[in-house]
Amino acid sequence: MELKIYGDPVLRKRCDKVNKIDEKLRATAEEMFKLMKEKSGIGLAAPQVGITKRFLAVDYTDKDSGKRDKLFLINPVIVDREGTEEAEEGCLSLPGFYEKVQRSAKISVRYLDLDGKSLTLTTDSFLAVILQHEIDHLDGILFIDRLSRLKRELFKKKWQKSIRVADKQ
Ligand code: NI
Repeated sequence: MELKIYGDPVLRKRCDKVNKIDEKLRATAEEMFKLMKEKSGIGLAAPQVGITKRFLAVDYTDKDSGKRDKLFLINPVIVDREGTEEAEEGCLSLPGFYEKVQRSAKISVRYLDLDGKSLTLTTDSFLAVILQHEIDHLDGILFIDRLSRLKRELFKKKWQKSIRVADKQ
């Protein structure tokens, strides 16, 4: 399993619904959790590992409460949202770049778990940010797409520069 980095066209694909939850998907989930741990990530969506299907992994521990959310969501859909909030985001596919993004403050997400059980999760904590970010990935949307045009241009310049530096090394 390999992490896909910005520039890879797979990150821009709209992913397809999962029709079958089987051993293969459960093994993929395990690999995703492992990769996320290696990279110190808190969320990882299928296209980030080159799979154009609608599923994502979250492993996030809230620093204040110590509460750990380790979740695997299949075919997630945001069914309710409330308010707006701004929080700093990063992405394993855009290493080294962080920016504040505005999103809904509270969301409800309906999804299937790895047993095929239909669940609805409601959250207004940082988990809401993570889930919105990861669900965006399933539609080929990256967090830089949600920045102002000016900030997005700034990102592109920074990104080009970092690629040139990497080429010289
Ligand atoms: Ni991301």
